[in-house]
Parts: sequence; structure tokens; C-alpha cells
Amino acid sequence: MEIRGGNPGKRLFRSDAAGTRHPGGQLGEDIGDGSFPGYICCVDGRMAGYCFGDSGSGEIVVLALLPEYEGQGTGKTLLGLMVEDFRQAGFTRLFLGCAARSHGFCRHLGWKPTGHIDDLGDEILDLALA
Ligand SMILES: CC(C)(COP(=O)(O)OP(=O)(O)OC[C@H]1O[C@@H](n2cnc3c(N)ncnc32)[C@H](O)[C@@H]1OP(=O)(O)O)[C@@H](O)C(=O)NCCC(=O)NCCS
Repeated sequence: MEIRGGNPGKRLFRSDAAGTRHPGGQLGEDIGDGSFPGYICCVDGRMAGYCFGDSGSGEIVVLALLPEYEGQGTGKTLLGLMVEDFRQAGFTRLFLGCAARSHGFCRHLGWKPTGHIDDLGDEILDLALA
């Protein structure tokens, strides 16, 4: 398993990963033009997961793994890399829209519910950075 940083361009993000927020449309364009830096995880040259954030707002816009790579610490690693990058960029608070199935994961990693629901019906969770 290999984690690559930086901006791989939108071509890599047309394939589906875990079926949640598919990074096409405007999201794909923002990844492609560098507005959303992030990391991808590859196994044997195949993309297994990715995490991208909005360097303007501090939103984690997508975090997803192919189902067969879940439960191995990869989601935590990808999200942790993004959090650290944004911390170093000066953010004191990050946020993300969290579907019900990933609530436990996010809570476990210290993200706090805000009670706000986004356009997709996901609750906004935030993370205060020291
Ligand atoms: C959510 C997702 C990214 C988690 O990635 P993952 O690689 O399976 O999770 P990890 O193995 O890194 O888990 C990290 C920690 O969270 C814990 N965890 C995972 N799911 C949990 C849950 N539902 N409830 C409580 N803790 C959970 C793990 O036990 C682990 O704990 P540890 O570090 O103390 O050992 C992944 O399941 C996924 O892609 N889901 C579909 C897409 C999605 O929902 N994305 C939105 C994310 S905001």
C-alpha cells in the first residue's frame, strides 16, 4: 500500500470508490485545479482510497475507501495527513459532512457533532485544532 500526496488531477477521480460522494462535477474540477489538495492510497497501482480537503474553508470534502480496504487503519491515516497539513497551514477548526455510517469513525477520531445538517443530509462535524 502506498500513499501519494499532492494533486493527481481529476482523471483519477472518475472511478467510483465507496459509493458516497463521487468526486465528479465541480468537486472533480476543484481537485484537478489544485483547490482541493489531498492524498490517494494505491495498492498494486490501483487506487484504494482518497481524502481531499478544501484549502480555502478547511472542509474535508471527501474521504472514501474501496470496501475491501476498510478497517485497516487507512481512513485514519489519510484523514490524519489532511488534518496535519491543514493544521500546519494555520487552520484552527476543520469540518466535514458525515453520513450516518461514518459517524462512529469520526467521533472515535475526535470530531464533534455540530447539529447542523448539510445539503446532502449529512451532519456537520468539526474538529478543533490546537
Ligand atoms: C469511513 C472510512 C473512511 C473509515 O476508514 P477505515 O480505514 O475503514 O477506518 P480505520 O480502519 O482507519 O479506523 C480508524 C479508527 O476508527 C475506528 N472506527 C472505525 N469505524 C468505526 C465506527 N463505526 N465506530 C467507532 N469506531 C470506528 C477503528 O476501530 C479505528 O480505531 P483505532 O485507531 O483506535 O484502532 C471508510 O469506512 C469508508 O470509506 N467508508 C465509506 C465512505 C465514507 O463513509 N466516507 C465518509 C467519511 S467522513
